[in-house]
Amino acid sequence: MYLRITKFVIAPGAEPASSSPCPAVLPSEVTRCQTGAMFEHKAQPDWVAVEEYLSTAVVLPNAALKHAVQSALDAGMPSIEVAPNAGKLLKMLVQLSGARRVLEIGTLAGFSAIWMAQGLPDDGRLVTCEYLPKHAEIARANVDMAGVGHKVDIRIGPALETLAALAEDPERDEPFDFVFIDADKENDSNYLDWAIRLGRPGTVIVMDNVIWEGAILDPSMDEVNAPGIVGALEMMGKDPRLDATAIQTVGSKGWDGFALARVV
Ligand code: SAH
Ligand code: DHB
Ligand code: MG
Repeated sequence: MYLRITKFVIAPGAEPASSSPCPAVLPSEVTRCQTGAMFEHKAQPDWVAVEEYLSTAVVLPNAALKHAVQSALDAGMPSIEVAPNAGKLLKMLVQLSGARRVLEIGTLAGFSAIWMAQGLPDDGRLVTCEYLPKHAEIARANVDMAGVGHKVDIRIGPALETLAALAEDPERDEPFDFVFIDADKENDSNYLDWAIRLGRPGTVIVMDNVIWEGAILDPSMDEVNAPGIVGALEMMGKDPRLDATAIQTVGSKGWDGFALARVV
């Protein structure tokens, strides 16, 4: 038996000794216990070579960003942060939209958080939601090392609970201007709904992983995540509160893509 948050397969014993199988460790509403194969993202070598060229020639991630990726590898975390060119796009979208309040769902080691925080003004704020304390701890060190720690608030817990708490938080004086959704795909539509509720007309929403190796056309490829992604894409098309597009990409993360939505 393995614990699984989308791609995370946490072998029994990898968590603190007090951990017991699934329900005790992970909140039932956001996870499932599964046995069997993980969903694979397949990167072709030429896609990776082109991405590396673009990263070196155009994107220019700084040393702190490179360190964040390495720290995740060293800690045995999955390499599922956004690609550098996608991270730079997030930073530029934050800048171009003039965002001052950013919400992220899914922190991992803080790679995308650092990019987005680099796009914020010095008094801007990014709240990022992470379920696993180990990920949050590594992300904290990484955002601090990157010199953007004063802008970043990492909230540990199941994101649906954190989002509900944010909605009730009297300290949250302003709506979020920009939201990046990148956690458990089963909850993508719930996160989209929260992004709208915590945002305002004009809020920009980016959702990662909306192609999932084409599994959106064949949910039998991944019966856990694909229906969640498809549900969110359908919502983007139908919900009158949103206007949206979706872009497919290839690179080190395989065949995937992102959706871009604007709260109407
Ligand atoms: N945005 C990151 C990558 C996030 S990977 C980057 O590009 O750098 C997804 C993260 O979401 C993982 O760290 C995982 O632990 C977390 N996660 C998964 N399900 C979650 C949930 N229900 N609540 C909060 N975090 C969750
Ligand atoms: C996975 C999750 C992601 O957010 C991502 O960008 C790539 C892969 C995964 O769970 O497999
Ligand atoms: Mg992702």
